[in-house]
Amino acid sequence: MDKIVIIGGQRLEGEIPISGSKNAALPILAATLLGKGDHHLTNVPDLKDVTTILKLLRRLGVTIQEDGDSLALNASTLTSYDAPYDLVKTMRASILVLGPLLARLGEAKVSLPGGCAIGARPINLHLMGLEKMGCEIEIRSGYVYARLLGSPAKNNKRLQGARIYLDTTTVTGTENLMMAATLANGTTILENAAREPEVIDLANFLCCRGAKISGAGTDIITIDGVENLKPMDYRIMPDRIEAGTYMVAGAITGGNLYVKNCIPRHLEAVIFKLKEAGVQIIEDGDGLRVKGLERPRPVDVKTLPYPGFPTDMQAQMMALMSIGTGRCVITETIFEGRFTHVGELRRMGADIKIQGSSAIIQGVTRLLGAPVMASDLRASACLILSGLAAEGETQVLRVYHLDRGYERIEAKLQKVGAKIMRSKGES
Ligand code: EPU
Repeated sequence: MDKIVIIGGQRLEGEIPISGSKNAALPILAATLLGKGDHHLTNVPDLKDVTTILKLLRRLGVTIQEDGDSLALNASTLTSYDAPYDLVKTMRASILVLGPLLARLGEAKVSLPGGCAIGARPINLHLMGLEKMGCEIEIRSGYVYARLLGSPAKNNKRLQGARIYLDTTTVTGTENLMMAATLANGTTILENAAREPEVIDLANFLCCRGAKISGAGTDIITIDGVENLKPMDYRIMPDRIEAGTYMVAGAITGGNLYVKNCIPRHLEAVIFKLKEAGVQIIEDGDGLRVKGLERPRPVDVKTLPYPGFPTDMQAQMMALMSIGTGRCVITETIFEGRFTHVGELRRMGADIKIQGSSAIIQGVTRLLGAPVMASDLRASACLILSGLAAEGETQVLRVYHLDRGYERIEAKLQKVGAKIMRSKGES
């Protein structure tokens, strides 16, 4: 299996373009299931997770033509309502087909995603919301079997609008229910909805297609169900986590990077914390210029749902703080298992202690390259960043996690001066 080898210590300089957002593309692709006709999506990132959802959509009967970052999709004839284990186990976000399948076909069978490296990650809120909208749900042999209640003979079965309170803010839960509600009979109100930009991007896509959604981006989303949706062309928003990761790459190497094609408004919490650490960040045209310093100031960080500091940037921020000039605390409040990078950072010389959901980081003057193992997507990004800053050679093993969420990462980093390459290695 591939590994990434980095010779650290290069100052990164130049321009890094940001690709389309993984976490916006996945629900938008799932949302094509909601109606007939040809969709054209652009700025779709070339990532393993996108390949997985396309495979799943094809199994359900969607025809797809790929041309670079553009996709033409047609879901006019669905041939299956079954999302099997072999695909769902490789990507939890496959659960995003549940809402659209139920809304469109009245029936769905989706493998229940298990826990993963970062936490138990239940989907109880997705299921509770769908039950409130008139579904009967059964968990059997590792699958969620869901179908609309009522008489099939009437042939007019639709989900029913409902008032749904989500007692934990859930991104894909909000997206699943929002998609389901677009074709429901009546009005659905999602309370304590996720406010992430990816939820807004999905709502924008659905509204372009004729859905009636208001409040996306706030914690109360109202969806007035419509009978059908029309096909539409749509450009996926830029990936704010990829942008944030490259901002840290500029910061951690004392470099000067222009992170191009990003939306600064989506990155406010990250920008705020990086500035507090002494990193210079200037909004410039359609991107951000980031100038690092030799060692950042320590800053405390607590992950929170948007607009708080994203959990998907926690590991990268920890890489930066591990070479800070003092002590700081990073607290993870979203996922209970999202510190798997800590042990690997320690192998590179970082001084980090874990106390419950907090990591206490005492900055060290330098990290030393080492072989390290990536255990999830953002932990992989953290190890790449640490390798860029470290003295000597770092080998990051199990890079398949990285390929799930970062498009052409070595090529993008090489272009700005990193000594990074992919080679055949152990798994
Ligand atoms: N939760 C429940 N019940 C549910 C759903 C969620 O208790 O039914 C809990 C989770 O266990 C977690 C919290 O709610 O503690 C938030 O989880 P959420 O549902 O928001 O996470 P997600 O939708 O599964 C998305 C992103 C993640 C990102 C999180 C948080 C996608 C495809 N995935 O996951 O992205 O970390 O939101 O922002 O959008 C990544 O890209 O690396 C990644 C993991």
